[in-house]
Amino acid sequence: MTYRKKNIFNKHSITKKCAWSLILEAKQVISDANILTKSISISKLINNNLYKYSYSLEKNKIIRKNFNLDAELQNLFDLYMPIIFNGKNNPYLIAHIAQTLDGYIATKSGESKYISSPNNLEHIHMLRAISDVIIVGTNTVKLDNPMLTTRLVKGLSPMRLILDKGNVLKNNYNVFSNRDGNGYKIISDKIKNYSNNVFILPLYKNKFDLNDIISLLKKLNKKIIYIEGGGSTVSNFYNNKLLNKMHLCISPIIIGQGHSSFILPKIKSLKNIKDNKIKYFKMGEDILCDIDLSIS
Ligand SMILES: NC(=O)c1ccc[n+]([C@@H]2O[C@H](COP(=O)([O-])OP(=O)(O)OC[C@H]3O[C@@H](n4cnc5c(N)ncnc54)[C@H](OP(=O)(O)O)[C@@H]3O)[C@@H](O)[C@H]2O)c1
Repeated sequence: MTYRKKNIFNKHSITKKCAWSLILEAKQVISDANILTKSISISKLINNNLYKYSYSLEKNKIIRKNFNLDAELQNLFDLYMPIIFNGKNNPYLIAHIAQTLDGYIATKSGESKYISSPNNLEHIHMLRAISDVIIVGTNTVKLDNPMLTTRLVKGLSPMRLILDKGNVLKNNYNVFSNRDGNGYKIISDKIKNYSNNVFILPLYKNKFDLNDIISLLKKLNKKIIYIEGGGSTVSNFYNNKLLNKMHLCISPIIIGQGHSSFILPKIKSLKNIKDNKIKYFKMGEDILCDIDLSIS
C-alpha cells in the first residue's frame, strides 16, 4: 500500500502575485525587527488563506512552508530572499545592469529602453521594491529621464539618489518631479545655491568618495542599496569592491558600438583571475547572472 504524508494534500498552490506579496512581507518583517535568530517565520493572510513559511538565515533557503511553489515561483524566492535577508549590518549594495551580447548597455546616442526583456523589466521593478535607495549617475538621468519607480509591481518606490556633483540636473526630470517627493541628489560642497532634497559631500579628485556615500546611507538608516546604472557608476562601485551582489542581465542582441557595461582598469594577465560564484536565471529571452561578490 502506498502512503503519503497528509500535509502534502493540504498545501495550497499559489499565484505569482501571492508569492510576490509573501516576499514583500519578508521585507516588512526585516524592516520592523533586528533579526538575531537563525530562522525567521513569515505569515500573511491573502484572500482568506493564511500562508506561512520559515526562512533559514544559515542555509539561505526556505525550510518550511504551507504552500507549493512551481519552478518559476521558486526562482522568485531564490532571487530576492538572499538580498532581503543578507545578514549585513552595513548597507548591502546590489547593482543590476542589462547588456547586449557584445557588452553594451546603451547605443552610442544613449538609447537603452529597453535592451532587456519585459521579464527583466519586471525584475528591475521588483529589485526597486525590496530596496531602500536607488542610486544612478547623472548621465542616466540626462539620457533616459527614467522614473525609477515600482509602477509595474506591488511595493513602495524607494528613495532615488542621483550623483550630480555640479547640481546641473533641473527639477523637471522625472526622478525629481514625481509627486512622492522621493528624488534626491548628492551635490558637491562647493555648490553654494541649491534647493530641497539635496545631500552635500566633498569631492576628491573631482569625485565623491564612495565610502562617504555609504556612510551617508548608513546615517539615513538605509539597508538595501540598488545601484541601477549606468555603466560608469556601477563599474566605480564594482572596482572599489563595494558591491555585495551584481545582477548582469544578458540580452540576445548585438549592437556593435555603445556605452559599455564595465569600464574598468585593464588587467595584466588572466592568471590570477578568480571565477565568480554565479547562479543563472532565465528571464524571457535573457539570462540573468546573479553574481555573489560578498565572498570574492
Ligand atoms: N542597460 C542598463 O542596464 C542601463 C541602466 C542604466 C543606465 N543605462 C544607460 O547608461 C547610459 C549612461 O551610463 P554612463 O556610464 O554614461 O553614465 P552614468 O553612470 O549614468 O553617469 C555617470 C556620471 O555620474 C556621475 N558620477 C558617477 N559616480 C560618481 C562619483 N563617485 N562622484 C561624482 N560623480 C559621479 C558623474 O557625473 P558628472 O561628472 O557629470 O557630474 C559621471 O560622469 C545611458 O545611456 C543610460 O541609458 C543603461
